[in-house]
Amino acid sequence: MTSTLPQHGGGDIWSRIDHQFAHPKGVAGRLLGHVMVPLNRTPNRKAVAALAPQAGEAILEVGFGPGQALGEILAAAPGCRLHGIDRSAEMVDLACRRNARAGSKLDLRVGNLDNLPWPDARFDKVLAVNVAYFFDEEGVAARELHRVLRPGGRLVLYVTDRETMARWRLAGPETHRLYGEADVQAMLVAAGFAPGRIRLTSISLPFGMKGWMAMAERSRQSSVTMLDPAETKASASW
Ligand SMILES: C[S@@+](CC[C@H](N)C(=O)[O-])C[C@H]1O[C@@H](n2cnc3c(N)ncnc32)[C@H](O)[C@@H]1O
Repeated sequence: MTSTLPQHGGGDIWSRIDHQFAHPKGVAGRLLGHVMVPLNRTPNRKAVAALAPQAGEAILEVGFGPGQALGEILAAAPGCRLHGIDRSAEMVDLACRRNARAGSKLDLRVGNLDNLPWPDARFDKVLAVNVAYFFDEEGVAARELHRVLRPGGRLVLYVTDRETMARWRLAGPETHRLYGEADVQAMLVAAGFAPGRIRLTSISLPFGMKGWMAMAERSRQSSVTMLDPAETKASASW
């Protein structure tokens, strides 16, 4: 049976844009990288505020795209050691150019977050903005983020809410995995974060858009303890 309705994944313009968001390539990918900067400025800024980067910390950003959040981190904490991974060579190039002033303080690599090239417990903090849509359903990527965090280390992850995404013609199921509050929580618990050490905040964006900012701490020991409100006070202004 054939359909005359435009379909996600049918090679139409929307599907092609979805694929570029998932893995920017070529001239169109570079163009999209430039578009992402103003489009994602607010969630990136809020995520970096929640990350609260400090001098001396080792920080990883996964799926950094054009590198806007990397610039915000460097501005907030010039003394941190900043690493990043993105599967798009075009985005690595854009992000390097955008943050060229950081010089050797910045280590950006082309690679896949299903198999991070760092040892366990390597980072104090990990950032993932607008990238969880592309995590595998089996949870490999999410477990990698937990693995490379040191005990007591912090993950900050942002996704736009599934209901907001459903209003767009973009973000079809062929390329994007969508999340509501319970989905983000479940994904992080499956990755290894204790439920009591995950805090989810609803984020309001322009034009009635809504998102979820998750802050999760890797447990210091195997027993589950509740987040101490005093510990998270510095990041309470998301
Ligand atoms: C929608 S963009 C978001 C970019 C940036 N974080 C922002 O908010 O502006 C998603 C980025 O994640 C990268 N990405 C998606 N899946 C990935 C994977 N499995 N491994 C590495 N990078 C991935 C893409 O190449 C793209 O640059």
